[in-house]
Amino acid sequence: MSKVAFITGITGQDGSYLSELLLSKDYEVHGIIRRHSTSGTEKIDHILDDRRFSGKFFLHYGDLTDSNNLTALIRKISPDEVYSLAAQSNVGTSFEIPEYTAEVTGVGTVRLLEAIRQINPKIKFYQASTSELFGGLPETAPQSETTPFHPRSPYAVAKLYSYWITVNYRESYGMFTCNGILFNHESPRRGTDFVTRKITLAIAKIMAGKQEKISLGNLNAKRDWGFAGDYVEGMWRMLQQDKPDDYVLATGETHTVREFVEAAFNEVDIKIEWKGTGVDEKGYCAKTGKLLVDVDPKFFRPAEVDLLLGDPTKAEKNLGWRRKVSFKELIKIMLDSDMAKYKGEI
Ligand code: NAP
Ligand code: GDD
Repeated sequence: MSKVAFITGITGQDGSYLSELLLSKDYEVHGIIRRHSTSGTEKIDHILDDRRFSGKFFLHYGDLTDSNNLTALIRKISPDEVYSLAAQSNVGTSFEIPEYTAEVTGVGTVRLLEAIRQINPKIKFYQASTSELFGGLPETAPQSETTPFHPRSPYAVAKLYSYWITVNYRESYGMFTCNGILFNHESPRRGTDFVTRKITLAIAKIMAGKQEKISLGNLNAKRDWGFAGDYVEGMWRMLQQDKPDDYVLATGETHTVREFVEAAFNEVDIKIEWKGTGVDEKGYCAKTGKLLVDVDPKFFRPAEVDLLLGDPTKAEKNLGWRRKVSFKELIKIMLDSDMAKYKGEI
């Protein structure tokens, strides 16, 4: 008998890779989609169109703000595993819409947990927790499962609630609930409002003559960036253990946003030369002197997470998980994909 998985956030970056992984393991996969005025299924259309998965892949309308809907879906689908990936996931945006972020990214999680507890508490549950919980204070790096939390955005505060309610349902009701504390992971399917994809897409457009330069915020922030395809494998592994637990998934490597910009331009044989500091810092093409990068304070956040660097030792030891794609390979995968979109359009 195939296992049945229910994924919230199936239309997002991670939901799309996780769907592929579970289908490759012969799962029956169900997910919720929100009603959009446009399709909203771009990242999973290739799965919907694939005949091999007809009768294996199902979408249902739903929303994390609607408890009745979640309860009805858990009852109807009767999953073995639930992957709670849906969220208002943009940290910068959470400062603009803090209450909505709390409602979806925080309270949404307990709606799902409560539906599971009431219908079948034996269902295994994965919660998409985040390295944002740590707050990135330099003295805490490298961050592991035992590092104290210090959330620095409405998003991170909402995720803190979700983290603890997941632990609480495990301790209170003996449910199989796990937190994956995931450091940044990227891919060609990353939303274009996250810094890595913003950079690779902009470079593709610059090379095609469709954009002049990239305007960014804090170039000094450091992130531990991995490939999303590697991370969904870790999510699945957490739910295959004998006992539920919480795990950090990370690469153990950190880079500044500035380094990401340099490495990405390097892939198209452009060396960036930096001049100026702070909001006046600018990146020029070393060969032609053309302005390619500048700083726009509108992308600064009211509070920044300065340094994320994860220690994945526990996941490596207990789950046998290891990231496969390097920083350089990740940039190449993303850039190749964005460059391909603009090929021939010059
Ligand atoms: P993403 O691409 O932004 O996807 C978010 C998903 O949540 C989308 O499917 C979105 O649906 C859905 N969603 C948003 N609000 C919803 C609501 N009210 N009801 C139902 N669905 C809703 O995020 P991701 O990068 O795949 O990340 C997946 C999860 O991991 C998120 O919870 C994120 O916070 C967390 N996380 C991500 C990272 C990372 O580096 N990527 C690291 C740590 C943790 P629409 O398509 O309809 O908008
Ligand atoms: N988005 C964005 N846009 N970020 C910028 C920009 C810009 O123009 N310029 C500089 N940055 C900096 C941000 O200030 C931040 O320090 C860093 O680049 C990364 O920003 P994002 O790519 O937006 O990701 P994030 O680290 O804030 O959040 C992502 O990772 C978290 C895990 O650590 C999201 O996926 C979260 O959902 C996830 O929990």
